[in-house]
Amino acid sequence: MDVLVVDHPLAKDRLSTMRDARTGSAMFRAALHELTVMLIYEAMREAPLRTERIHTPVARTDAYRLADPPLLVPVLRAGLGMADQAHKLVPDAQMGFVGLARDEETLQPTPYMESLPESLAGRPVFVLDPMLATGGSMEYTIRLLTGRGATDVTAICALAAPEGLERLEAAGLPVRVVTASVDERLNDSGFIVPGLGDAGDRQYGTV
Ligand code: PRP
Repeated sequence: MDVLVVDHPLAKDRLSTMRDARTGSAMFRAALHELTVMLIYEAMREAPLRTERIHTPVARTDAYRLADPPLLVPVLRAGLGMADQAHKLVPDAQMGFVGLARDEETLQPTPYMESLPESLAGRPVFVLDPMLATGGSMEYTIRLLTGRGATDVTAICALAAPEGLERLEAAGLPVRVVTASVDERLNDSGFIVPGLGDAGDRQYGTV
């Protein structure tokens, strides 16, 4: 499984703002927005292009357009904080939604909503979720996507735990991961260490 760690200084800076317990919700959301731009930018480095001929005010030249914009799938709630920025970079993308809440005791994902195109055969898909912890939520989401025919899935995560990456690898799913950091480990409560706490709560408050 391919794992791309985007360790650009600007990405490290924004991730550090997100990690800092003193960072309030507004600043946390702003840092996640900016980090998302960097992650999507790197994730799309090899994206196929189509060419067309255009006129500049001076001459004829080739113009390049995305041949196959990915379906963007934020995982609610926390992934919502990545959706708008990803969409701004890829304005022609369609967006689907998956809603999952991780049970705090069992750490199992409980699905509460799903809005996806019926067929994803031949379509690249970007799943947006700030955290890959045990990997249960991501595995569940990818199985929903592969069940609809997806074979090209990219997980865009602000940070990831080694345990979550190992789980996805062991599941043999067609996924690559783009993240700003692979952290040390999970603690006994299933939180990433050092991590940033709960990305949903830090953006939107505890419910
Ligand atoms: C968090 C996070 C991921 C998931 C990661 O969401 O945003 O979706 O947990 O954990 P996992 O890899 O162990 O499955 P949470 O369930 O807390 O919901 P929220 O986004 O509504 O806060």
